[in-house]
Amino acid sequence: MAAPHDIPINRRDLLLAGVGATVSTQVAAQQTTPEPALDMQPTALHSVQLRVNGELRDLQLDPRTTVLDMLREHLALSGTKKGCDHGQCGACTVIVDGRRLNSCLTLAVMHQGSSVTTVEGLGTPRRLHPMQAAFVKHDGFQCGYCTPGQICSAVAVLDEIRQGIPSHATADLTSAPLLSAQELRERMSGNICRCGAYANILDAITEVGGAA
Ligand code: FES
Ligand code: FES
Repeated sequence: MAAPHDIPINRRDLLLAGVGATVSTQVAAQQTTPEPALDMQPTALHSVQLRVNGELRDLQLDPRTTVLDMLREHLALSGTKKGCDHGQCGACTVIVDGRRLNSCLTLAVMHQGSSVTTVEGLGTPRRLHPMQAAFVKHDGFQCGYCTPGQICSAVAVLDEIRQGIPSHATADLTSAPLLSAQELRERMSGNICRCGAYANILDAITEVGGAA
């Protein structure tokens, strides 16, 4: 009878034996390590009071609710659009306490007591805001998906320029920024338009800025 050390073992058998041992070790580990229990506790709602388009709103919200979802899902203000939901397109831009904000990037609970203006709060179909009227006049849109964000941004941009807030395109920081095409393009660069209506958008903002 051949001694155990006489049994011929080739490289393939050895590798298979190694794989088998590894798999059985992993199976044993899975059997002995219990899965962490999922936390199924409901998230406590938070009370948030803020003013939206001039109206006082009192909401009970999951603390993870963004301003964008608060507007669209809780207040049925669907004028503000969800494009990327990642702060990349500007479709969700609204004005919060006078400053434009990507509403997909900020949580509603962070804005207790704030004042939010959406495209619905700027004007009405019968009484358009001058910026809304200028977008219509200059064909500043095609599909219109980016338009509410463009208009909110544009209104806030003109306000920034009036306040003398510089941008990356402002050459002279000692004097008031100009209402130049370069300034407007830079300041509006966070608002993407897949239809490419940029030239007409610029014309609309320039007209309103010049008339202001
Ligand atoms: S949806 Fe907010 S930046 Fe695109
Ligand atoms: S009008 Fe279509 S994305 Fe701007």
